[in-house]
Amino acid sequence: MTQDSSYGPTRRYAKSVGITATGQYYPERIVDNHELSKMVDTSNEWIVSRTGIHERRWVEPGVGSSDLGAKALEMALERRGLKADDLDAIVACTVTPDMLFPCTAALIQTKSGASRAYGFDLNAACSSFIFGLSTAAGLVSSGACKRVAVVGCDVMTSIADKKDRNTIVLFGDGAGAAIVEEVEEGLGILDFEHRLDGRGAPFLYMPAGGSLKPATAETVAANEHCIHQHGQEVYKNAVRDMAEISRVMLDRNGVDPKDLKLFVPHQANNRIMEAAAKRLELPLERMANNIAYYANTTSATIPTALHQSLEKGMVKKGDYVVFAAFGAGFSWGGMLLKWAY
Ligand code: UT7
Repeated sequence: MTQDSSYGPTRRYAKSVGITATGQYYPERIVDNHELSKMVDTSNEWIVSRTGIHERRWVEPGVGSSDLGAKALEMALERRGLKADDLDAIVACTVTPDMLFPCTAALIQTKSGASRAYGFDLNAACSSFIFGLSTAAGLVSSGACKRVAVVGCDVMTSIADKKDRNTIVLFGDGAGAAIVEEVEEGLGILDFEHRLDGRGAPFLYMPAGGSLKPATAETVAANEHCIHQHGQEVYKNAVRDMAEISRVMLDRNGVDPKDLKLFVPHQANNRIMEAAAKRLELPLERMANNIAYYANTTSATIPTALHQSLEKGMVKKGDYVVFAAFGAGFSWGGMLLKWAY
């Protein structure tokens, strides 16, 4: 089944729902390009020129996505002046759950002490965080929940082959969190659009360890529990779809790109991000960009890049903000917000 490339009308929630606080957490260990060039046949020059990445964070053994996620959530709750008990639900967005089950949301729930919360994991690869945000907003808008935490957390080093120069240089570990609640009328999430196209599956995937090809000694020996990526195919689709879906967000809501205060793209490659910003005719100063220091943290790129932009004062109440993501699936999505605080 192919994808319908047309986009329909604005998707609106019944109530005004938005992000009311953010948080982030990274492990302490910094791995720069020079250290990596001692591990695989690469160079600082190649990595910087092809990706814009200078360094990334790696967890120590024994640390899982839930550990990073719980710490990011703790910061978001603190910023909002809430206790973990105030949460009704936790949506854990991750491609690297601590285990296949129980869900990482359950582990975050216990680590953060959110005694009233239910929750679940959501995996749409690099689009997980914005798919999670729209899901959380639906729960709040329907009245099913008052406060939902969306936590993007990934330990990409658990699935990146440390001997494969094609992938190990690209990824890092980290977590970002957002609290989703009802906000002042007219503010918050104005629109979103999400897409999947499974024809992209062979270009970015982990072949073994799931139900189709359960783990065996052979699959482990063949490194089939690691990321396999056809970089160029992903690259060209990412530029086209992130730019197009962001443009749809602006056009169908009558927002002039000049009035967009912050563009937060998925941080996979600086060249992809800059190409998408160029297609939107957006000055680079208005693009959230943390890839140089943290690389691609999958579900955590958008919430951490957002958090850091908010800390720098790049956005104030009432400003237009666009999120755009692209990842395995293929999955991609955009979201337009009028900043709520
Ligand atoms: O978050 C999920 C979504 N993922 C993405 O958005 C990633 C999208 N793709 C990309 O960012 C880029 O395609 C890469 C950064 C992965 C690769 O950049 P590229 O400019 O497309 O390089 P390439 O794949 O065309 O490879 C060029 C050469 C190859 O050598 P040959 O075959 O030309 O001799 C690679 O083997 O670069 C080689 N290469 C490396 N050389 C040094 C690949 N990785 C490395 C490396 N160091 N780390």
